[in-house]
Amino acid sequence: MIVVETKQDLINKLDSYQSHQTIGFVPTMGFLHEGHVKLIEEARKANDIVVLSIFVNPLQFGPNEDFESYPRDAERDEAIAKQAGVHVLFRPQVDEMYPEKPSYTVSVRNRVNVLCGKSRNGHFDGVATVLTKLFHLVQPNRAYFGMKDAQQVAVIDGLIKEFHFPIDLVPVSTVREEDGLAKSSRNVYLNKEERSQAPILYKSLKIAEETILNGERNKQAIIERVSSLIKTETSGIIDYIEILSYPELKELDVINGKIIIALAVKFTNARLIDNITIEI
Ligand code: PAJ
Repeated sequence: MIVVETKQDLINKLDSYQSHQTIGFVPTMGFLHEGHVKLIEEARKANDIVVLSIFVNPLQFGPNEDFESYPRDAERDEAIAKQAGVHVLFRPQVDEMYPEKPSYTVSVRNRVNVLCGKSRNGHFDGVATVLTKLFHLVQPNRAYFGMKDAQQVAVIDGLIKEFHFPIDLVPVSTVREEDGLAKSSRNVYLNKEERSQAPILYKSLKIAEETILNGERNKQAIIERVSSLIKTETSGIIDYIEILSYPELKELDVINGKIIIALAVKFTNARLIDNITIEI
């Protein structure tokens, strides 16, 4: 594995490969865990070269969010990336990606007025902007994203299609702890008690799924059920619980077709998200 920190070094390295060699790209913000490793493994299976980026992108954090305190561990990340079989690790500093205050940003108008987009104003503009820059630098054949961030996958699907990026988006299913909690770099912020309550989030989604598969079609009734479980079994504060079409993220009158049940719950120092998609 080669580690590069500048755009020019990345370009030079990628230029050394043959044009028929395919590139699988895994963009991350680091503090790698098994979720990220699964994306790397999927990329390895289908491509000759795997490029991993680690960049905590300031543009996608709101003023009161955790950009400064976002967990970072460059040494450990490098070891995990190497072990997972990454060929090129691109690890730029903020100045390398944004030498000046950006004059151009990508503004996302669809699929962002729901779920996390509603409370994280400008977040997906930041994600779409950094990915546009990274896609141009890496020019991958395929890009890998986790369904843990299902709205992000929906937004990137739109970005790739609308801007004609010649890239296949590969969604990868959520990797979970044994007790069902979705793996996340932010799980380290949970205190002991919250960590023991956190699996209720996935449990409540599975109950919602089962209820729907058993024929329940009343959206509000399902949401109420999930909500009361979370309220009684955890100390978290519900940010949202929504059932929408997927990947369009449109409001539904009737539960039908491909849908997502998604939630966000705030604990003392961590806001956790989770979702499941179902085809009916
Ligand atoms: P980050 O939160 O580091 O996540 C990087 C990738 O790992 C994303 O595609 C995310 O969905 C995936 N991922 C995280 N946890 C996962 C899990 N438990 N199972 C499967 N995949 C998981 O998402 C970002 O970074 C940033 O927004 C980024 C796309 C890099 C743009 O800055």
